[in-house]
Amino acid sequence: MISEKKSRILLITGAAGGIGKATVKVFTEAGWQVIGVDRKPKYEGFPENGIYIQSDISLPEAMEEIYEKVEEFTESLDAVVHNAGVQVAKPLIETTAEEWDLVMASNLRSVFLGAKLAYPLLKAKDGGAIVNVSSVHAIATSADIAAYAASKGGILALTRAMAIEFAKDDIRVNAILPGAVDTPMLRAGLGRGHVGDGDLMERLENLARKTVNGRIGQPEEIAKAIYFLADNTQSSFMTGQALVVDGGATARLSTE
Ligand code: NAI
Repeated sequence: MISEKKSRILLITGAAGGIGKATVKVFTEAGWQVIGVDRKPKYEGFPENGIYIQSDISLPEAMEEIYEKVEEFTESLDAVVHNAGVQVAKPLIETTAEEWDLVMASNLRSVFLGAKLAYPLLKAKDGGAIVNVSSVHAIATSADIAAYAASKGGILALTRAMAIEFAKDDIRVNAILPGAVDTPMLRAGLGRGHVGDGDLMERLENLARKTVNGRIGQPEEIAKAIYFLADNTQSSFMTGQALVVDGGATARLSTE
């Protein structure tokens, strides 16, 4: 009898968003099983051999419930992608403490709690990987997005700390920093006025002109980079690093 090779298992948060859906697809096509987590309901086309958990990762109790369900499904994980995130786009002096806390709980605390809960499951395999989705706003930012930028900067520091503490169990931890990628979050954030005040298409074109590649990114282009960081057969010598995938936007001086 030919023994069936067991699929590798991924848990991804924000699975129903633009980058999330594309990442679920890339991993599924590579033969992985996917555990998708999102506060939005399960979407049409989510892989049938996986599980979908509708929940809110900004709440510590909900995070524990998520991992109780994960442990009913599997004793181990090969990779975890912390991708869920929210953006509050407003001037710093108008941002309330509640909005600040919501952004930090959703974008940063969830990564800390998720890593703690995933740790025993990742350790159960010969080598696991965590990919934390940060943003180019962690290294250069703009007006009216301070809480988001701070949360994404925090992810980079947390990624290094996790990489150091988890290395003894062969768990690699890296961050990815997408630039402008065409998703619902990007389109919603274009109202900040940083790329002009024309209609949506004009704003998207203005944004595209700011990249070296002359276009904004597609979710699949981020998904493939996430896959590279999550797959131990590809990025085995990388840990604690920040991979920028932004069409060259941060390579060019803004004063040019
Ligand atoms: P999106 O808005 O399409 O997807 C985000 C998903 O996260 C949504 O499905 C949402 O329901 C989910 N989510 C948010 N808060 C949640 C919570 N508390 N509990 C459970 N699910 C929650 O956005 P997109 O663009 O796909 O973003 C994915 C990640 O990529 C985010 O972390 C974002 O900050 C990051 N990113 C996106 C960029 C872009 O240009 N689109 C650029 C840089 C970073």
